[in-house]
Amino acid sequence: MALRITVIGTGYLGATHAAAMAELGFEVLGLDVVPEKIEMLSAGRVPMYEPGLEEILRKHVAGLEGSTGRLRFTTSWEEIGAFGDVHFVCVNTPQKHGEYACDMSYVDSAFESLAPQLTRPALVVGKSTVPVGSAARLSARLAELAPAGTDAELAWNPEFLREGFAVKDTLHPDRIVVGVGSERAEKLLREVYAGPIAEGSPFVVTDFPTAELVKTSANSFLATKISFINAMAEVCEAADGDVVKLAEAIGHDERIGKKFLRAGIGFGGGCLPKDIRAFMARAGELGADQALTFLREVDSINMRRRGHMVELAREAVGGGSFLGTRVAVLGATFKPDSDDVRDSPALNVAGQIHLQGGQVTVFDPKGMDNARQLFPTLGYADTALDAVRGADVVLHLTEWSEFRELDPAALGEAVGRRIMLDGRNALDPVVWREAGWTYRAMGRPKA
Ligand code: UDX
Repeated sequence: MALRITVIGTGYLGATHAAAMAELGFEVLGLDVVPEKIEMLSAGRVPMYEPGLEEILRKHVAGLEGSTGRLRFTTSWEEIGAFGDVHFVCVNTPQKHGEYACDMSYVDSAFESLAPQLTRPALVVGKSTVPVGSAARLSARLAELAPAGTDAELAWNPEFLREGFAVKDTLHPDRIVVGVGSERAEKLLREVYAGPIAEGSPFVVTDFPTAELVKTSANSFLATKISFINAMAEVCEAADGDVVKLAEAIGHDERIGKKFLRAGIGFGGGCLPKDIRAFMARAGELGADQALTFLREVDSINMRRRGHMVELAREAVGGGSFLGTRVAVLGATFKPDSDDVRDSPALNVAGQIHLQGGQVTVFDPKGMDNARQLFPTLGYADTALDAVRGADVVLHLTEWSEFRELDPAALGEAVGRRIMLDGRNALDPVVWREAGWTYRAMGRPKA
């Protein structure tokens, strides 16, 4: 009989994973402790903006017209235990309040609720990003709590999906990594991922700690790459060089590669910042803190970018106070094609200028509701054109494709002064300068 799959936690990761598992042909039951989320998902609606996710959800959610009916949602742990052969734990692991370490409370409570329901053989698969050593601890806890005893087994299968590409990354992963304790666990996971494996996705089998470390080290590497190019941007600015050309030129070296070398206001979001901090905290606990002191520098280069953007804006409005100045901010999300504003560099910059007395007006194609919730005191406009009306300076802080298509002439008519600060190195300087704008970007020559 085909495997029956449950997905615990239906945020970005879980909602996407549940829909993708149904798309791969499995019967799927998703659980969340927030009833409103379950209501929405059961009606075929996604609680966040993620391209393509609502389409595959609607294709499979039971009860919707024309759906396969393979995907259902519940808030009942009992139902989850009775239904599943393989249980994916996809709850979030945020940064602890006031500390670098990772908050494991959602993972722990998911295991405490799930394990007592496991009365028959089952594989529990952790997907959340956790400090190394967690899987070993949770595996022991599972054995203690599950009525099925050792027939209820744990595996760790980190997730590498990027927001904005979550569906594609889940259905066609560039690798599948599984930390397993037995051949049975490996066999079950090969069955789950038979589709992507047949398509050629590499399947890497490892032990628990390595699987956990793969995730945190991959994110640390990406964060380091971004901070590296941002450090080069600082030097370029001091030496009158051009970091965009520099990135292009070093990227031709295949060992370096072109990707993740876009200088700007740096990385944010729900993963990279908190993952590198949790990794440092965990290394400290293990007595290996020296190995990761460079991540402290990666973090501080990244945070410095936001301050630098504020200073460029200050310079643009005369070099003194922001009081009485109008600042337009294009972009609120931490990256384009997402409505996620968690640790967003764009909103952070907008907030800093607002706190210093500037009148800030923000526009974002998808992130307005989330931005308003987080920063209710900022000004918001319904369009980019409205946001820039009368502005003394315009800040381009999230590289949505629609911002690249803005007409510099039309915007030029609306602003108070034609000054564009490109915090993402994504606009074409020639086009903006030709339309009479002063265009400045991070790590690039002034004129
Ligand atoms: C990241 C990892 O890429 C993914 O594998 C992991 O599963 C979760 O964390 P995500 O948070 O969706 O994914 O965003 P990502 O595309 O990695 O971008 C992170 C941040 O870096 C964004 O704020 C983005 O704007 C910034 N970035 C990215 C740069 O500043 N420069 C770049 O060259 C690339």
